[in-house]
Amino acid sequence: MRAVVYNSPRNIEVKEVPDARIEKATDVLVKITTTNICGSDLHMYEGRTDFNSGNIFGHENLGVVIEIGNAIDRIKVGDMVCMPFNIGCGFCENCERGLTGFCLTANPGFAGAAYGFAGMGPYSGGQAELLRVPYADFNCLVLPPDAEEKENDYVMLSDIFPTGYHATELAGVQVGDSVVIYGAGPVGLMAAYSSIIKGASKVMVVDIHKDRLALAEKIGAIPIDDSDGSSVDQVLALTGGLGADRGCECVGYQCCDHKRHEVPNLTMNNLVQTVRATGGIGVVGVFIPQDPGASDKLAKQGQIAFDFGQLWVKGQHFGTGQANVKAYNRKLCNLIAAGKAKPSFLISHELPLDKAVEGYKNFDARKDGWTKVVLKPGK
Ligand SMILES: NC(=O)c1ccc[n+]([C@@H]2O[C@H](COP(=O)([O-])OP(=O)(O)OC[C@H]3O[C@@H](n4cnc5c(N)ncnc54)[C@H](O)[C@@H]3O)[C@@H](O)[C@H]2O)c1
Ligand SMILES: [Zn+2]
Ligand SMILES: [Zn+2]
Repeated sequence: MRAVVYNSPRNIEVKEVPDARIEKATDVLVKITTTNICGSDLHMYEGRTDFNSGNIFGHENLGVVIEIGNAIDRIKVGDMVCMPFNIGCGFCENCERGLTGFCLTANPGFAGAAYGFAGMGPYSGGQAELLRVPYADFNCLVLPPDAEEKENDYVMLSDIFPTGYHATELAGVQVGDSVVIYGAGPVGLMAAYSSIIKGASKVMVVDIHKDRLALAEKIGAIPIDDSDGSSVDQVLALTGGLGADRGCECVGYQCCDHKRHEVPNLTMNNLVQTVRATGGIGVVGVFIPQDPGASDKLAKQGQIAFDFGQLWVKGQHFGTGQANVKAYNRKLCNLIAAGKAKPSFLISHELPLDKAVEGYKNFDARKDGWTKVVLKPGK
């Protein structure tokens, strides 16, 4: 099969590799029809996390089941399915509680597994023609009859739509709230979209990229351009000096100042300043325990100089971590099926798998107009 393979930092290729196959009776084999490039892939692409040469990328996957293992009960050949980027077993203590992003079985010795992901187990990614799906009765979301027609919407259920939603859950967004979101990448846009769906009264999205901010405005959020570093003042001005009720971090450890220099504590400290006293903050942008590639001494050890005193004085709370996609994907799927959500609005490029190199290069450069790339193996 053809697959997107990592060689070394910013050096990937699409090449022929051995076919993915059923390895356990609880697996199914999926022929991938849509698979996205994600901001999380870029940490690996840039060589900032340990991703081995030869590994296959891809954790945002949708396709058709072509073979099932002997122990599969529910999933049938021909089903069109979307997989959460997390691989859960369904029976461990965390999966039982809906915390499938922290499965204790799928990646022994670590809480959490995913496809094509550094540190998340031995599972190959789906930026390929075929994908092996473990614990498939549990992990596959079988899509409604309009799956093909709305494929570019449903594929967002694999990660960014539930992840954006998760940010709003961690922050505690409720009807009528004002929300500030740092990052207008795909995840930040989905956090804004989820806030709007939940009935937030005012949603402010901060970034420096005009194309991404334009999408935020298109869905009814207030774009805040931080090109001169004034986002904190702008948010405070829009919230009577008090700050927003809720805040979402959708950037992660590679966040930058307005001159595009990495300042790993910037978004977290800006959120402490721009969320009101007693407000909530949801942190879905990725922060990692070691970052040898960082220029900052603290960041190399996975630490940031965090305004904890301010957070404490303001009585704020925050939640962090990988999104438990399965906790939300069915309900968000219902919204898409009912025509009440259309997360494909952020797609800028639909490319054949063979053009993945071009997709990575431009998305990584945050090149103007490259807001989300979906790959179509077989086209
Ligand atoms: N928790 C999860 O389950 C989960 C799932 C998916 C993605 N992620 C993470 O979410 C983050 C965002 O993903 P994405 O796909 O949107 O990535 P992305 O890199 O495309 O978008 C990040 C955006 O943040 C902006 N940005 C950088 N510094 C900023 C700052 N100081 N203030 C405001 N905006 C700033 C960038 O300009 C960019 O538009 C990544 O860290 C990704 O790994 C987490
Ligand atoms: Zn992703
Ligand atoms: Zn589990």
